[in-house]
Amino acid sequence: MPTYRLFPTLVHSARLQSGRWRAFNNQLLRECLQLRDDDEAGRRWSARNYPGGYTSYGSASRMHRVSPTFAALEKKLAPHVKTFVRALGYDMTGRRLEMTDCWVNIMPRQVVHGLHLHPLSTISGTYYVQTPKGCPGIKLEDPRLDRFMAAPPRKVGAARPWVVLPAQAGSFVLFESWLRHEVAPNPQREERISISFNYGWF
Ligand code: NI
Repeated sequence: MPTYRLFPTLVHSARLQSGRWRAFNNQLLRECLQLRDDDEAGRRWSARNYPGGYTSYGSASRMHRVSPTFAALEKKLAPHVKTFVRALGYDMTGRRLEMTDCWVNIMPRQVVHGLHLHPLSTISGTYYVQTPKGCPGIKLEDPRLDRFMAAPPRKVGAARPWVVLPAQAGSFVLFESWLRHEVAPNPQREERISISFNYGWF
């Protein structure tokens, strides 16, 4: 009897661009920090919903429509999203996938980003702007975890119910928006800075 491997979960992670990426990344970094300085509403929202950290999720969540630099990020992501869509097998004939949200996340030391998913979207992802050595990656949870009733423990080296993909400045990760994920507390003194985004289809 053959053993089938069914219903795979696809995640796509790569460098945004080959070669010269630092100048563009530094411009994004400057704008992320500037946004935090300027965005008083976002700092208030973050104090309630993202203790110790800053996110523009509740205040400036369409940065690709506001900043030419973030619009350039959207443009540079587009071919990667296309590759991922091909791998997923979506039939986009007569449909379009559009970036709907794009926001900044800044995690100082000890700040955590709890387990969540992005329920109103199709594809979600994150681009990494500043990733101090030893900062946490993104932890992805097996979507079947709540069905693992009475499952025996797994052997060392067997597939685990979660996977941590490292965060590296200049790289991005893409996944389907139903995939639950979190970021563990940042133990580093330097801030971990990323830009997250959602795509929807229309
Ligand atoms: Ni998320």
